[in-house]
Amino acid sequence: MSADTTGPSYAAVFGAPPAVTASAPGRVNLLGEHTDYQGGFVLPTAIPQQATVNLGRNGTSEHVLHSANLNQTLRIPVGEVGEGFAPYLTGCFALSGVQEGLNAFITSDVPSGGLSSSAALEVATLRALRQLNSLDLDDVALALRGVQVEHEFVGVMCGVMDQMASSLADTRTMLLIDTRSLERRAVPFPQGAEILVIDSGVPRRLAESGYNERRAQVEEASRLLGVPQLRDVTDPTAVETLPPVLRERARHVVTENGRVLAALEPGVDAARFGTLMNASHASLRDDYQVSHERVDELVALLQAHPEVFGARMTGAGFGGAVVALVREGQASAVAQTVLAQYSEQGTQVVP
Ligand code: GLA
Repeated sequence: MSADTTGPSYAAVFGAPPAVTASAPGRVNLLGEHTDYQGGFVLPTAIPQQATVNLGRNGTSEHVLHSANLNQTLRIPVGEVGEGFAPYLTGCFALSGVQEGLNAFITSDVPSGGLSSSAALEVATLRALRQLNSLDLDDVALALRGVQVEHEFVGVMCGVMDQMASSLADTRTMLLIDTRSLERRAVPFPQGAEILVIDSGVPRRLAESGYNERRAQVEEASRLLGVPQLRDVTDPTAVETLPPVLRERARHVVTENGRVLAALEPGVDAARFGTLMNASHASLRDDYQVSHERVDELVALLQAHPEVFGARMTGAGFGGAVVALVREGQASAVAQTVLAQYSEQGTQVVP
């Protein structure tokens, strides 16, 4: 899939070409879920699907924002946030000191639900603004500004993974990010394997409130354990002193960090990596409770397929996408078989 170039364009909506155009990819996370707001380790990769933002000045005191996907135009006075998709853009504008009216034409082929469609939109918007206004903003600072947009304008208390991945990852490797120090390095995919991403077709429900609640729970758990972040706990039995629920939430984060570190050990092959992905799914389902029945069904179908090394939900959860590590060259065949057995209308997203 590539960005739709046949539909309406900036020029068709605004009567002149844009001053700048920028794109940014979605991401899929292979391992290290719900650890990035506790200083943990994550292993995302970029996906080919991207958000694209075209910008131009309009000489007024109003932003005119057009979403090609929604076929919707919003007019927002400069300095106001607006609703719907507007905060993703107006948040970037506000945090980048924009004081003049801008026209924006946005389009995206990143599916919503677990593949960072919001981060892709924020990073694309900030890249476009960086070009337009020659902003002094490196790729890490740009990603962190995207995170700030989520916190202050969208209201999701996300970690740093998605915007860091959208800003810095490529599609050929995984990007190991230490979300405390922001140190990172490219890690090759296990040999003889490729990734398969399937959108479960289950719309995410209560994702924002569930997400913010999980974050508050693990913050409380780390407070009770007397550590700055759960990253600082390496022995999973240390969480046993916590009250129920907080104990399970903390156990997920601690064991998930262990799984990422285990995946980086020398000699880890696709089979071992897949086992760690399966364990991650079980932990997200049972301890963190952010999966969904239908997503569990899809993951189980994938895990049972002989060409699949491992599979799990990916992203925040509550519906959305799943990722599998499959034998090289087999992704589409696996997707076809599994989707025929699955009770919902799922779709293959990558490759
Ligand atoms: C969402 C958030 C990320 C991360 C994941 C779960 O995608 O935006 O910061 O917490 O959920 O790993």
